[in-house]
Amino acid sequence: MNKAKRNVVIAGNWKMNMTPAQTTEFITALAPMVAGMDGCKIVLCVPYVDIAAAVAAANGTNIEIGAENVHMEAKGAYTGEISGEMLASCGVKYVIVGHSERRQYFGETDVTVNGRLKAGLANGLKVILCVGETLTEREQGITFETVSKQTKIALSGVSAEELANVIIAYEPVWAIGTGKTATSAQAEEVCKAIRGVIAELYSAEAAEGVTIQYGGSMNAGNAAELLSMENIDGGLIGGASLKTADFTTIVKAAQ
Ligand code: PGA
Repeated sequence: MNKAKRNVVIAGNWKMNMTPAQTTEFITALAPMVAGMDGCKIVLCVPYVDIAAAVAAANGTNIEIGAENVHMEAKGAYTGEISGEMLASCGVKYVIVGHSERRQYFGETDVTVNGRLKAGLANGLKVILCVGETLTEREQGITFETVSKQTKIALSGVSAEELANVIIAYEPVWAIGTGKTATSAQAEEVCKAIRGVIAELYSAEAAEGVTIQYGGSMNAGNAAELLSMENIDGGLIGGASLKTADFTTIVKAAQ
């Protein structure tokens, strides 16, 4: 495995936070703080209503904008949903699919996640696929089975060529928003297992190239250690992505 060959991606997931005005203020403040830090991709995944403000504020900086979900269909009677074409047309480059909050609160399944992932890819977006076990699943000893199944179903029908635009975020559900981070050894173990699943589904070469992030209470204090692990190529950051100083420290740790 050659970690140096992989893209490192630090992505913020703002969830349901920030108005357009706050978005402009945040990115205007963040941009000079992370200027020149080109050792990783810097992405902010923002609520739909903030996309226009985010794309405008990030224009000419090294920050790219993502969305937090995408619908599987191209258009039609899907009240409240947003298509991949709509996102791409607004300047969005990345999209998260399969976040555990979507699975937990909005009935998303591995099958809907697969549809959304393919819709993102079909519209030229880079897709951040979230997988991760609940505390019960960890305690039952089925962490690997859980993430393996989530990964396999989400990637069903995705070609090796398309996989180049997929980033996998390992997010143990018990670590999200709880302040309870997985240890670097726990995170590394599962990220390595996910890489093994990619090798099995595609090839050793594909597995070596795929970016695998860790997410779940990653913060300014623990990012450097997590990011130093062989199989962790970045982070998906919730709470700490809402603070310019903390997010900058994480980006710096990824250089
Ligand atoms: P957290 O969220 O960093 O606030 O734990 C991570 C995520 O949900 O992506």
